This record gives sequence, structure tokens and C-alpha cells, in this order.
Amino acid sequence: MELRRAQRVKGVVVVPPDKSISHRALFFSSIASAPSEIRNVLDADDVKRTLNLLKLCGTEFEGDLKKLVVKPRPFREPSKPIYCGNSGTTARIGMGLLASRDGCFTLYGDKSLSRRPMLRVVKPLREMGATVLGREGGALLPIAIRGGDLKGIEYESPVASAQVKSAFILASLFASGKSVYREPWKSRDHTERMLKAMGARLTEKNGSIEIEPTDELSPLKLEVPGDFSSAAFFITLGVIHGKGDIVIENVNLNPTRTGLLRVLERMGANVEVNLKGEELEPIGSIRVSSSKLVGTVVSPEEAPQMIDEIPLVALLGAFAEGETVVRGAGELRVKESDRIASLVLELRKMGVDIEELEDGFLVRGGKGLHSAKDLNSHGDHRIAMLLSIASLCVEDEGASRIKGANWVKISFPSFFDILGELAR
Ligand code: S3P
Repeated sequence: MELRRAQRVKGVVVVPPDKSISHRALFFSSIASAPSEIRNVLDADDVKRTLNLLKLCGTEFEGDLKKLVVKPRPFREPSKPIYCGNSGTTARIGMGLLASRDGCFTLYGDKSLSRRPMLRVVKPLREMGATVLGREGGALLPIAIRGGDLKGIEYESPVASAQVKSAFILASLFASGKSVYREPWKSRDHTERMLKAMGARLTEKNGSIEIEPTDELSPLKLEVPGDFSSAAFFITLGVIHGKGDIVIENVNLNPTRTGLLRVLERMGANVEVNLKGEELEPIGSIRVSSSKLVGTVVSPEEAPQMIDEIPLVALLGAFAEGETVVRGAGELRVKESDRIASLVLELRKMGVDIEELEDGFLVRGGKGLHSAKDLNSHGDHRIAMLLSIASLCVEDEGASRIKGANWVKISFPSFFDILGELAR
């Protein structure tokens, strides 16, 4: 993909449906007591992996992703291994769900997913009584699970991860006895919201979650809102571009996802948030425009609530006066790529003064960006999108070239069409 500096970036954007909520709506409705209706499911590779997993296990679907009816059926053992592609959410939440079913299930993934840590999910599932076998003692895919008779446990997760939390909660709903889950910092809470709406008994107390076993989950009727993590690319673009004015409509504003908005406020960005309603999740619109930014420090506590947006902080920092520092974001090293290493390497090619830290980075801002011909997405959708918006904000007339830009298909297949409209 070749991109050049945009004269201006202006317009109204509707971002694709939320990826996290789409996965969850599919997983949870597959075990409800009656058919669910889910509107506006994300049409992107990752969510198709979850759909495929459920189809292989017997769940039936009617309609299309605009309006999908999910018909729960007793889970059956697929005759072949289940391919999770690039999708950590499919593999990890899938393991929690499959551990609660009778049968043996094998999961595998692409090159990137086969490198990502799974023991964080496998360990609590084993403690509950599931048999889990995998490479390196169950740390890596492919992994085979035989679940069934699970018992409730108390578990303290060493990482703040919504995928681990969701897998644990799902397994606990079908265990004998109560379970308790704790995490170091609060991660996104879509699972808790959705399962409570389905009648699950989850109680949050002093930072821990108590999960009572359930006999039945009621079906869902849900419209998936726009994905804040996709919106974040246009929020950043509108703020850093000298002639930016972008409105994003119908986007999820769950506070456990919008840490970036709090960081932007400290940086002095022009951001207006308009809350339009709240059913399961708060939804609204966001307007951003060109801003004069100052550097900031992102703390470890903030990281989980903006984990997928942290790479954008590096770019914001490059346009800010002074230093911007991110710490406590070591989880970025085990995403679709090692995002700390990828973003430092690539943004340096564009002239950004950035230093790699073990669990984050430090940017000395205000020096301007130049185009680069040898940019690489590292097979990571969010790095591809980060480099694309950076390429629109360079000082020179040259074209930037990004290898592996088509990875945007993982979460945002229409990304370049929307970017093109904004830059017209
Ligand atoms: C997700 C949780 C986060 C996030 C990922 C989606 C989810 O991962 O990075 O894109 O849907 O639960 P972790 O749970 O590993 O932090």
C-alpha cells in the first residue's frame, strides 16, 4: 500500500462493529436456552474464526452478519481440529467455553497465534479439572481440551486480560460450586455485562468477581455498536493532522475501553464526546480536530483499558511537545506481533525519536515525520493501520510504502476505503 500526505482529513465516519462484543455475542448465544438475534456482527477474519469454531461444534446460524439468528445446539466433537487463524480471542475464550462441554476439542492457529501465550488460560482450566494438552506443557497451540466435570475455584490471574477473565467465567458458569476471579487491574468488562443480561449470577466485590454456576442462560437480542479500537485510528488522525476535523458516529464508549480518551484529555487534544444512550453498553459519537499536544505519562494501571490503543500513543507523542512515556504495557509484546518492537522499529524509519523500554516506550516529540519506503506491518493489523495514518501526516510530498497492509482484514476490512474518503 502506498500513501501520501493528506491535504486535510475531514468527514463523518461510521466504524465497523466492535470485535470483542461480536465474538462474545456469538460464543454466549451458542449456549443460551433459545435462539438469539444479533444485528451488525463484525464482518472480519477474526470473527469468522469464532463463527467457524461454533459451526464445527454444531451451532446453527440463520441470516447474515447484518442480522444473525444463532440457534444453540448440543455441542458435538468436530472430526477435525479447529482453526483459529490469527484470533487470540477465538482461541482463548473458545477454550473456556469448550472446557465446559463434553468432548474433546483441538485448536490451532496461524504462525503468529502459535507463538502467543496460552498457559494463562490453560492453568486455571486445569485447576478446575479440565484436561489440556499442548506444545511446551500447554503453553502454545495446538492445544487439545477435554472438559466436562469442572469444579469452582478461586483464581488470581497474574495478567489483566479480558480473554483470560472471559474464559474463566464461562467455565465457572458450568462448574460445581462458586468461583472467584481476581485480576491485577480491571480489564474490559463486555463479558460481565452481556452474561449478566443473560441471567448469569456474577457479582463484583472489591475488585473480584464471584461466579455462581448457572442452569440456563436466556437468549440475547443485541445490536453490536461501533468498535472504539477502530475509531481510535481516526481519533488520532484528526488530532495530529494540521487540518483535521473528524466525527465518528455510533461508537461504543465503555469506560473499560476508552482509556485513550483520558490520555488525550491530558495531552490537550480537542475531543468532544457525546453520549447518546446506554443499554448493555454506552454508545455515542466523538468529534476530534487538529490539536496542539503536550507529552504525558501513561501508567501501568491505565494500560489494560487502552491496551489496543497504546501504539497510537507513540504517534500522538511524536506530535506532542516534550516527552511521552508508556510503562506497564509489557502485554504489547505478546499481541499479534511484539507491538513495542514493531512500532519502535517502524516509527524510527519515519524519523520519530523513540526509545524502546522493556514494558513500553519513551518518545521525544515535536520533531515531525517524514515518508518512508520500507514500512512493514509485521503481520499485525493494528501496526498496519498505525503506519497508514502516520503516512498521511508526514511533512514531505513523498509516498510511504507499507508491506503487509492487507492485514487490516483481521479487524477492519474497509479501513483504506474510509481513510481514502477522509483524505479526499
Ligand atoms: C480482547 C482483549 C485484549 C485485546 C484483544 C481483544 C478481548 O486482549 O488486546 O484485542 O476481546 O477480550 P487480552 O485479553 O490478551 O488483554
